[in-house]
Parts: sequence; C-alpha cells; structure tokens
Amino acid sequence: MSAPPPALPRHLAVIMDGNGRWAKQRQRPRTLGHRAGARAVRTIVEYCLARGIPALTLFAFSSENWNRPEEEVGALMRLFLRVLESEVEELARRQVQLRFIGERSRFPEAIRRRMAEAERIQLPAPRLTLVLAAGYGGRADIAQAARRLAEQVQAGRLRPEDIDEATVGAAMSLADLPPPDLFIRTGGEHRISNFLLWQLAYTELWFTDVLWPDLDEAVLDAALADYARRERRFGLVPEQLASPAPETR
Ligand code: FPP
Repeated sequence: MSAPPPALPRHLAVIMDGNGRWAKQRQRPRTLGHRAGARAVRTIVEYCLARGIPALTLFAFSSENWNRPEEEVGALMRLFLRVLESEVEELARRQVQLRFIGERSRFPEAIRRRMAEAERIQLPAPRLTLVLAAGYGGRADIAQAARRLAEQVQAGRLRPEDIDEATVGAAMSLADLPPPDLFIRTGGEHRISNFLLWQLAYTELWFTDVLWPDLDEAVLDAALADYARRERRFGLVPEQLASPAPETR
C-alpha cells in the first residue's frame, strides 16, 4: 500500500534557472533573459493562486550570485527594484503575502527599504505566501541558526543537551511554514545549488530542461502530476504509511 500524497504541495520551492541561456538562444543580452524571467515569476504566482498552493519560495538571488559580472549584478538590482516598485501593492491586493529570506546587507539601500516596506504589509489571511530568497545561501542559513542557538546557550536560556532537530529547525529560515513538498528546478541542471539545504530534507525533487523564461502552466501541471504520483515515505516502509504521517522535520 502506498501513502496517498496530498493532491497539492503545501509549499513549492523553485530554482529559476536558464535566463542567460534563453537570452543567448536569441542573441540578446543576459539581462533580457532576466526580464523575461520576471514575467515567468508572474506566471508561477498566478498558477499558485489559481490552484490553491499556499506557499511559494523562489530563489531570486543566491549568495554566490554577487560574484557575477558587475554589469549583470547591477542589471539584476535594477530589475528587482523595478519589480518591487511595481508589484508590491498589486500582490497585497491579491492577498499575496511577500517575505524575504537571505542576507540583505549588500543590497542597495533603495531595495532594502522596499523589502522592509513590503514586509510591513501584513495580510491577516493571505491566499499565498511568496518568499523571495535574495542573498540567500543554505549553508549560511544553517550557520545563522547555529549562531542563534549558541547565543541562547551563552545567555543561559538553552542547554546544549536540549539542542535537537526541532530547536535547530525552529532557528532556520521559514520555520513557520511547512517544509517544501515539491522542489522544481528549470534549466536542465540537477543540483540544489545551496538553496534550502535543511528544509529540503524530505522534499520531492523535480527537474526540467525548460528554461525559466519559457515556464508555462503545462510545465507546472507536469510537475504537479509527477508529484501526485510519488510515494513519500519519510524513511519508513510502505506498510507503515497507512498510519498518520510521521514528523518530517
Ligand atoms: C538564473 O538564471 C537566474 C537568476 C540568477 C536570477 C533570477 C531572477 C529572475 C527570475 C528575475 C526576476 C525575479 C524576481 C523575483 C523579480 P541564469 O542567469 O543562471 O541562467 P543561465 O544558467 O542560463 O545562465
């Protein structure tokens, strides 16, 4: 017997790869690929709203992306700022709660201000929580959780022997959301690339050669159909899955 997977993921995590190659195929600058990538962001947000997927985390900019050529980083910053300026209110109006994870200190002041403004909008009952991972690295996330716990130990509020998966998990980014059920990476690479390392422990992984700007509903339908066929065992044997779902983090 296999466990019926919940029909829909409660949380979708996505690496949006392939913007550069999409532009190259058209002999256009990489920045044009990123602009087309921003349109695909709208596609996936609309899709989640239409299907009732309540949480979506997008890897918008990794901690390693700061090492890209200055010109590309500058173009991405301008694009992020423009998107924040043009979309935040509309997202709130559509009951999309925007959040950010990652190290913000290197982002231009104008972007940090917009991020803070967007986060000040707190929707009582959002239809979708949209998390943008910006300046994010999975290892850095684990390191900051370790630092927070060490500070609590130093302050006498936590004993080392009480540190377990639950305390570490609670100190990680996204601790208040269910862990991602489904991870999607476009662009043909089969890697996690330092995305949500802790949070993806039991996530179903799905990869496609489709380049991010070419994302459409059919691609997302295929990912969800595949997800619905997966047997999620969380380390157990199939016979055990008839009983209630085990703790997954
Ligand atoms: C990876 O493609 C994509 C990025 C590093 C940036 C992601 C940014 C966007 C999708 C644009 C807008 C996003 C938001 C949230 C407004 P790549 O450049 O690595 O592509 P390649 O592998 O083909 O070179």
